[in-house]
Order: sequence, then structure tokens, then C-alpha cells
Amino acid sequence: MNVAIVMGGYSDESVISLRSGQLLLSQIDRSKYTPYEVHILLDDWYCLHEGTKYTLSRGDFSVTIEGKKITFDVVVNTIHGTPGEDGHMQAYWELLEIPYTGCHYYQSSLTFNKRDTLSVLSKFDIPKAKSIYLSKGDTIDGTKIAAELGLPFFVKPNQSGSSLGVSMVTTLDDFEKALAFAFAEDDDILIESYLNGREVSVGVIKYKGETKVMGITEILSQNSFFDYEAKYLGKSDEITPANLSEPLQKHVEETAKKVYESLGMTGFSRTDFIIMNDVPHFIEINTNPGLSPQSIFPQQAAHAQMAMSDLIDNEIELALK
Ligand code: DAL
Ligand code: MG
Repeated sequence: MNVAIVMGGYSDESVISLRSGQLLLSQIDRSKYTPYEVHILLDDWYCLHEGTKYTLSRGDFSVTIEGKKITFDVVVNTIHGTPGEDGHMQAYWELLEIPYTGCHYYQSSLTFNKRDTLSVLSKFDIPKAKSIYLSKGDTIDGTKIAAELGLPFFVKPNQSGSSLGVSMVTTLDDFEKALAFAFAEDDDILIESYLNGREVSVGVIKYKGETKVMGITEILSQNSFFDYEAKYLGKSDEITPANLSEPLQKHVEETAKKVYESLGMTGFSRTDFIIMNDVPHFIEINTNPGLSPQSIFPQQAAHAQMAMSDLIDNEIELALK
């Protein structure tokens, strides 16, 4: 079975995706599948085969290698950010009738939009921060925002990942810089109240027909929050499993499953929460969670004693259903 392991993407998260893709390439069971390394970069879609680049056809997502046309039976998608986590590629594969791992194009698109995800989850009584949604060109009054949300608050691009463009604003002197940083990633931003609590990240998958929690990881950032540097440059400690009382652990697991099901997920996911006053508050869901050696999801898989090769099998089976 020909499997395209698809990595890269158009955003600044592509460097992380390349690491995720390499992990999948190293772990996929080659006795069952023939994997191909496929890169989707802004001006270049190609398959890397034995050190040579072969351009992909955008018409049918095939590649011709040494005169032989290769089509893919399934796509294992590990693009973070656009266009592979926000539904664009998923919609394209859907039209081409190529099965792909992860959630459906609509759910991908929905969950990559933080505001719309919060809006859907408010129907399901999932606790979350207070937030204000703004767009480029809006009149933005920092004093009013601080009066409504309190200080500190967070400024985030509405659609992005890996904490790119995210800042914590502790005094209004930092506000302009935070706005510029977030607007550099997206034309729409979210400003969210600060939740003072413990940050946890919960891997959830669909496994043998059940919604299954892989594990809960507590994040202890050495920076003021879990920013890009803390995530990928070693500036954080990640404790798996998080040291939570049994009732709290159950509560976090149940909330994570509820989020997963309410949003109609399938496949790998990782949801971030802040636990404040023993209540997990939803921060965001990642439908293509990072699989780099620094990422949380592989740590949870190792802890749950689930081999990545089995998890990949499971994803492929779900995609082919
Ligand atoms: N967006 C990054 C890759 C993550 O969720 O792990
Ligand atoms: Mg994210």
C-alpha cells in the first residue's frame, strides 16, 4: 500500500512539521506499507525519493518517479498550520477521493479557528477564558480591554500554532508590540483573560471505536508561558503523567473527551487546558499535534506503552474506513 507521509506546510510551523514527518517515516511499519516522503511547501510540492526530488502533480496528487506514475492509497498528514491543519489539503484530498488521516476537512477548518471553536464549545458548557475578537483595522482600546479582562491578558493570532505570535501582556506598555506580533501571523486576533492555574495538555485519539485519552502532561514553562522557545528550545519541563489527584485526573480526561466528541474529531489530537480551581479550562485543540522528538504526543504514547507504529496503523485504518 502506497502511503504519502505529508509534511511541511506554508506557515512558520513547517520546520516542526518536517520533524514530525521524519518521526512518522522512521516509525511506520514498512512490512505493511510503502511510505513516500512528501513535502508541501509554498511554491514546491514534491516527493523526496532516494535523495532526489520529484515534483508532485497538483492535478491528482501523484508523482512520476523514473517514468513510473505513483498514486497514493492513503495520506498520513502531519502538516501543522496552513494548508494541512486548517482543512485546505483535506478538502483537496476529499475531492480527489484519497483517504487521509486525521479529522474531516470541516472539523480541521473549524478547529484551526480559535474563535469559532470557542463559539461551538460554548454550546457544550466547556469552561474557558474570557475573550475578545478583533480584526486588523478595528479601533483597539487597550484600557477598555484591560478593564474587561484584567491584566495580564494574552494576545493571540486567531489562526496559528506553536504559540507563534502569542504574547502575554502584563502592562499596557507592551500592548502595541503584542498586537503587531499577533497581526503578523493573522488578520484576526483573540485577546484572552489570564487563567492562573496549572497548564496540562491531553492527547486524545479514536482507538478501536472508542475515544481514548493517551495521557495528561503538565507543562512547567521556564518562561512566563509555554511559548515557542519553551516548546522547542528546552525551556520547559513536561511531566507525563501529570501529578493530579484521581478525581481531578478523571475530570480532565472526561472534559478532554467531551471536547473531542463535541467537535466531531477523529484521529490524533491534543487539547490544552489550564486547570484553575480544580476546573480544566479549554485553551485550544490541535488536530495535527506535533510529533517531533520535543513534542508532547510522542511522550504520551511512550508512557501509554503504545508504539507509534500501532498508532499510525490505527490512523490509517480510520482513514480507510
Ligand atoms: N501546533 C504544534 C505543532 C502542536 O500542537 O504540537
Ligand atoms: Mg496549537
